[in-house]
Amino acid sequence: MSATQATLDAIRAVVGPQGWIAEAADMAPYLVEERGLHFGSCALVVRPASVAEIAEVVRLCAAGGVPIAAQGGNTGLVGGGVPDGGIVLTTARLNRVRALDALNHTITVESGCVLADVQKAAEEAGLLFPLSLGSEGSCQIGGNLSTNAGGVAVLRYGNARDLVLGLEVVLADGTVWEGLRALRKDNAGFELKHLFIGAEGTLGIITAAVLKLFPAPKARETALAAADDLVAVLGLFARARAAAGDSLTAFEMMSRRCMEFACRHDKGARDPFAAPHAYYALMELTSPRPGEPLRDALETVLSAALEDGEVTDAVIAASTSQARDLWRIRETITEAQKHEGASIKHDVSVPVSRVPEFVAGATASVEAELPGIRVVDFGHMGDGNVHFNLSQPEGADGAAFLAQRERFNRIVHDLAVGMGGSFSAEHGIGTLKRDDLVRYKPAVEVDLMRRLKAALDPNDIMNPGKVL
Ligand code: MLT
Ligand code: ZN
Repeated sequence: MSATQATLDAIRAVVGPQGWIAEAADMAPYLVEERGLHFGSCALVVRPASVAEIAEVVRLCAAGGVPIAAQGGNTGLVGGGVPDGGIVLTTARLNRVRALDALNHTITVESGCVLADVQKAAEEAGLLFPLSLGSEGSCQIGGNLSTNAGGVAVLRYGNARDLVLGLEVVLADGTVWEGLRALRKDNAGFELKHLFIGAEGTLGIITAAVLKLFPAPKARETALAAADDLVAVLGLFARARAAAGDSLTAFEMMSRRCMEFACRHDKGARDPFAAPHAYYALMELTSPRPGEPLRDALETVLSAALEDGEVTDAVIAASTSQARDLWRIRETITEAQKHEGASIKHDVSVPVSRVPEFVAGATASVEAELPGIRVVDFGHMGDGNVHFNLSQPEGADGAAFLAQRERFNRIVHDLAVGMGGSFSAEHGIGTLKRDDLVRYKPAVEVDLMRRLKAALDPNDIMNPGKVL
């Protein structure tokens, strides 16, 4: 019997018959990422039911040299959860809310909790867990933290990283680090939790977290504004921020093509305007104070912007269901784009003030490179995070288009980084952007990352080949 086979047998014994999957058809969903672009393989999918089981599985893998790809909801976009041999360890069965302390404004959850369930638990206690993204109905909080997810409320509440007070982590030798402190002030030495947040499972496996909660919004207003260009959208953002301050919780942008794709492929999506517009800004204002005159603030901002010609048309949602309809347009873009053939995605950030310049420059460059290419630009304008996605020219060969990915990546990433930006704003590195990490990060940073990896995972069993 090979060493690996002995390790796999021992793992099966630890987790019991409910705790593993070995049938090819049942393993298939764990071996591929969202868009079907990255395929992997593994010997076993392991579904531990407790932290103790995870620790024992990791101990066995460390002793047997078996790689572990930890997986949450497998909704990532850069191949970070796709295994390359060894085992997939899914945290799906570790899905308890361990505690909620309303006075401390914290919730302690296990990593397999689905994000929407964490939001719901907070809501039931009259509070808010603000992390919010398209896949919230299936992604898991452990994955959100391991990838430092962003989403649509970063402007007001920060990235996943900013929402964590404490962590419990199974280290690469199977030791459990119990760091579930629920403190807002704890200045005692290195801030170790931040090593594991955003590490994509390469340094350890997050098994539980203490998360920050906030007062629940009691007033909410949503609007969609249309504009001729992104300079105008940026102007509107500045106005809205100045007028509404922290009440401005989301400020998203999308181009006309996004609106077209959304309405073409999602029967529930509807363009609220009579005429087409080059760009749209989706804004949301919230407040924990029930009587807050958010609507007045929104109307004042929008009418001033209309008067100055910055905005060409605008709608304010008159009901929750209308607000949901406006959000639907924004949230369906990724799915709609799949129906338009092959796509090359870019998830970049630049200083907010330079978003128009970046989009104009990148658009001119990629259109010159391949006439007919379709730029699908949208994203979290308030965070300077642009999803500068490219759809294949109509009728073109999808595979031939995808084969040019490197070329387009180079154009777009060079431009973003040259403007002081990032080649990966919120989706992470995985395998997709591993080469870019070495290309664009200062050598000192890459070296520090390698030294940390070697120190924390000397046998290279934690999600090997990802990030670094
Ligand atoms: C989004 O903001 O909708 C996603 O991060 C973008 C994507 O799927 O590319
Ligand atoms: Zn995004």
